[in-house]
Amino acid sequence: MGKMRLDKFLAAAGIGTRSEVKELMRRGEVTLNGSGCKKPEQKIDPVSDIISVSGKQVFYEEMSYFLFHKPAGCVSATKDEKEKTVLDYLKEPQCRDLFPVGRLDKDTEGLLLITNDGDLAHRLLSPRKHVDKTYYAKIEGKVDETDVKAFLEGIDIGDEEKTLPAKLVPLNIGEISEVEITIYEGRYHQIKRMFEAVGKKVLYLKRISMGPLILEESLEKGTYRRLSREEIAELKKGR
Ligand code: URA
Repeated sequence: MGKMRLDKFLAAAGIGTRSEVKELMRRGEVTLNGSGCKKPEQKIDPVSDIISVSGKQVFYEEMSYFLFHKPAGCVSATKDEKEKTVLDYLKEPQCRDLFPVGRLDKDTEGLLLITNDGDLAHRLLSPRKHVDKTYYAKIEGKVDETDVKAFLEGIDIGDEEKTLPAKLVPLNIGEISEVEITIYEGRYHQIKRMFEAVGKKVLYLKRISMGPLILEESLEKGTYRRLSREEIAELKKGR
């Protein structure tokens, strides 16, 4: 992408119309690489220059990618009559057509990728792609080696095919066990149904990674961050 006028950049990034943008510049709200800039015709490089409006950096991307820490109680949809959706948490008015890649149940927490890159979402969700998804879970009952073996062999959860081999790692075994489980597909309520099939109940479920994306401890529930360029490249490469 070549250089472009600053007012055009800000308008294209959804900050406002060209005249609204000029007014913001006149009021000194716009900085270019840390210094105030009042010239709408100023040429900027959208990739390497840092442009902020009222102290907040403005990004101009054809596609946007966010890692969201979904709290329990919100639904993995873009619109819902009654429930809070993941998009209610994203305050990015300049990004259009965002949607969550795949679904987490309403009571499941954790990592959810939100983007407007339909091609990438399609590839990540393709059943043939087998993107690994790891969850932390609390399970009612003692998870044992029989469960680990059964998950590795694939489980009949009432679908046409058994589940693909899944990696179950007990972290703490007790009346309530803590486990990590990695699956390579994304069937409806898959983890809950897998445990049900071995006579156990999921009490708590949180997705902690998906392919190259990892939910860091510091990202609080209900908040989100942009993916880094490296993460976007890794996702596109596929793993
Ligand atoms: N498996 C489930 O049962 N629920 C989720 O939200 C994700 C995976």
